[in-house]
Amino acid sequence: MKNKIIAGNWKMNNNRAQAIELINQLIPLVKDTNNTVIICVPFTDLCKAVKLTKGTNIHVGAQNCHWKESGAYTGEIAPSMLTEIGVEYVIIGHSERRSYFGETDQTVLLRTKAALAAGLKPIVCIGETLEERNSGNMESVLTRQVVEGFKDISAEELDNIIVAYEPVWAIGTGVTATDEQANDAIGFVRSVFAQKYGQEVANKLYIQYGGSMNDKNAQGLLSMPQIDGGLIGGASLVADKFSKVVNAHK
Ligand code: PGA
Repeated sequence: MKNKIIAGNWKMNNNRAQAIELINQLIPLVKDTNNTVIICVPFTDLCKAVKLTKGTNIHVGAQNCHWKESGAYTGEIAPSMLTEIGVEYVIIGHSERRSYFGETDQTVLLRTKAALAAGLKPIVCIGETLEERNSGNMESVLTRQVVEGFKDISAEELDNIIVAYEPVWAIGTGVTATDEQANDAIGFVRSVFAQKYGQEVANKLYIQYGGSMNDKNAQGLLSMPQIDGGLIGGASLVADKFSKVVNAHK
């Protein structure tokens, strides 16, 4: 049995004082879990988060990184700048980055490759919009995101990647995919990975669900056989709620 990987995605929330408070509240609440706990915080909170979580079971991630090592890329952060300060994970290709900042399957692949090369563990996000689901294109969209977004990724590299299936219509809307919808979609995503990498590699791959997951619905979602964890936005900003998600699956 796999444990679960629960990652909080703080998005553009929490200044330094708020970050310190939230992390200090969280540490005792999640210390006994067998699940992996990650908090993906804004760049400006990373150093503090790494320092405060040292010696605890909480891992720290960033929410994006560039694919170049250095250079004239104003506003970007290189993967090695993250590993240098003790960051272990990085979210890549979140739907908000795809829709607001022009992220494509191609740039997702570039960022993922660079993150892996630097020793980061990418959490690569995929997922369909409501329009794509309603027009019967969910499977073709997810297939494209996996085929294009993981084009040059080897089976060995996949070992260090977490995939987050986040239906765009469920993100920040309070509308969660039902346990069955999430399980079916993730089962489908896993089958696309199986076609490329074989069933054994696909079974090992961690695929999270994300989209309005919270302390109330986590237990149901995390008990589904295909769902290996969660990427939690809104509910990760409240220690009590996030810790309940972490502790929902024993
Ligand atoms: P949400 O966000 O939990 O607030 O829906 C999830 C995400 O965008 O990662």
